[in-house]
Amino acid sequence: MIKLGVNLDHVATIRQQRYTPYPDMLTAIKISESSGADSITMHLREDRRHIQFEDIKLARKHIKTKLNLEMAPTKEMCKIANDIKPDFICLVPEKRQELTTEGGLDIKKNFDNVSKTISSLRKSEALISLFIEPDIEMVKIAKDLNAGAIELHTGKYAEANIREKDYFLNEIKSSAQYAKNISLVVNAGHGLDYTNVKEIARIQEINELNIGHSIIAESIFLGLAEAIKKMKSIIGDA
Ligand code: PXP
Repeated sequence: MIKLGVNLDHVATIRQQRYTPYPDMLTAIKISESSGADSITMHLREDRRHIQFEDIKLARKHIKTKLNLEMAPTKEMCKIANDIKPDFICLVPEKRQELTTEGGLDIKKNFDNVSKTISSLRKSEALISLFIEPDIEMVKIAKDLNAGAIELHTGKYAEANIREKDYFLNEIKSSAQYAKNISLVVNAGHGLDYTNVKEIARIQEINELNIGHSIIAESIFLGLAEAIKKMKSIIGDA
């Protein structure tokens, strides 16, 4: 079965909205793990709009599954990652004004910087993943960069209208197949929710899906445990 990485950024978003001590991150981690999360994802952004350094430290200390740190390829973040030693690192593009990550990392244009970043992350001993658009050329470049994994950006599929959906789904499928054939670990995520995850969860080459916003939103009504179990069950049934 495809694994589920639960992204807890928006637990921190609610907390940072008022700078309250709640919702408590450790409770969120524990509930996520006991409800079936296979890993916990946190994105430490340059502007610290949600996840704080303290969250990452706490997560490293208490997570029993795997910690996936999403980060921009910057010197500051490399230093943090090498100190914290997450299990997985996913390199993502970051723009200050964006509401959320807007697309995959352009590893063609930023080849040298990404290459340098990967080299300087060796000390972390993490599996390095590159968040890329579902595009064979990008997959090949990820391999050239010696990344161990890729995360395919599912945002365009998630936002596509009914006529475009199949096109984007096929891009994800063919990129996943190509990547698996050249021995890359294939993950996927962004914009996945309870209505659109099934088709993606049927792609056998995918190892793990990283999902945040829809799970945290659903937890307002169901509670975090049930929201995660519901997502796990859809992925399992697919
Ligand atoms: N994967 C990556 C690389 C991301 O940047 C994000 C959003 O932080 C996600 C997955 C999760 O996306 P969503 O919150 O839309 O489920």
